[in-house]
Amino acid sequence: MTRRSIVVGCGHYLPERVVTNEELAKRVDTSDEWIQKRTGICERRIADDNQNTSDLAINAAQDALASAGVSADDIDLIVLATATPDETFPATATRVQAALGMTKGAAFDVQAVCTGFIYALNVADNFIRLGQANRVLVIGAETFSRILDWEDRTTCVLFGDGAGAIVLQGIEESGDAEPRGILSNHLHSDGRHHDCLYVDGGPSSTKTVGHLRMEGPEVFKHAVNNMASVLGEALTANNMTAADIDWLVPHQANKRILDGTARKLRLSPDKVVITVDRHANTSAASIPLALCEAVTDGRIQERNIVVMEAMGGGFTWGASLIRW
Ligand code: UT7
Repeated sequence: MTRRSIVVGCGHYLPERVVTNEELAKRVDTSDEWIQKRTGICERRIADDNQNTSDLAINAAQDALASAGVSADDIDLIVLATATPDETFPATATRVQAALGMTKGAAFDVQAVCTGFIYALNVADNFIRLGQANRVLVIGAETFSRILDWEDRTTCVLFGDGAGAIVLQGIEESGDAEPRGILSNHLHSDGRHHDCLYVDGGPSSTKTVGHLRMEGPEVFKHAVNNMASVLGEALTANNMTAADIDWLVPHQANKRILDGTARKLRLSPDKVVITVDRHANTSAASIPLALCEAVTDGRIQERNIVVMEAMGGGFTWGASLIRW
């Protein structure tokens, strides 16, 4: 008997405030035309001043629990991916745990920036497959608006706030030749690229929160290559080809990166779930937000092959392949 993890529910939360490209063009020297043409972004959601990452995460978690038809008492573990925690410590996951009324089990954060959700999913899957947890809330939640330099047009137009969550549950595989669940995870990092994408602050280095700094074109180049290569790695590990993919749910940083990755793999653009136009880049939240949308609107169906993949600061990158 092999234990596997299947997704039994998903949820999302987006702050109400929509910020359009036109609105940003009043603050910095940019235009709706430039932003749309270079990134595919039309608008993004920005959290209210009184909303923290945990508030977004709690809403997404409650939505995911409702969609799975389970309560917080049924959850053994919360793994929350974020690069914008409420506080330096404790983990934002523990705030979510308290708000859900969950007093047992464990809760912690995972930090891999935009690849955070894939890392969190891999951690949760390992807990389940080892029998250490049976039902896990995996959350990606961010308030990148708090770490943007709102005078830097090269970064402030690219990001948004939001949260997505899934409930992952263990099942005993019954010898099915085509089992459901997470079939493989693939994680990578290469710390030599720190200076291409980082925050110039932190409790130890500068004692400030700092702002996001990015060498966009350099990140772009690595993103297309790394996303295509890790996707190829996931397919090879499962004896599959791009033709086997029903849905690709990539990290949403730039529509051109998504088009470039699909082109490299000769994957039909119709199979790529896109939300970057409305959400912009929500870092660790972008994959669960896109996933939730495609599950809720019925695009993703049981037994579909779904591949999630991401690339972010560090650099970190990774993929998860699931038979839904
Ligand atoms: O989630 C983590 C991963 N992050 C990413 O994957 C982001 C990857 N990078 C990108 O998506 C793209 O590189 C950007 C969207 C950030 C930039 O697009 P680009 O096509 O690479 O533009 P660029 O940086 O080469 O800049 C081209 C021009 C420059 O002007 P000059 O030097 O040609 O006169 C920039 O100053 O566009 C200018 N520019 C802007 N113009 C209007 C840069 N930002 C803006 C802006 N509005 N917001």
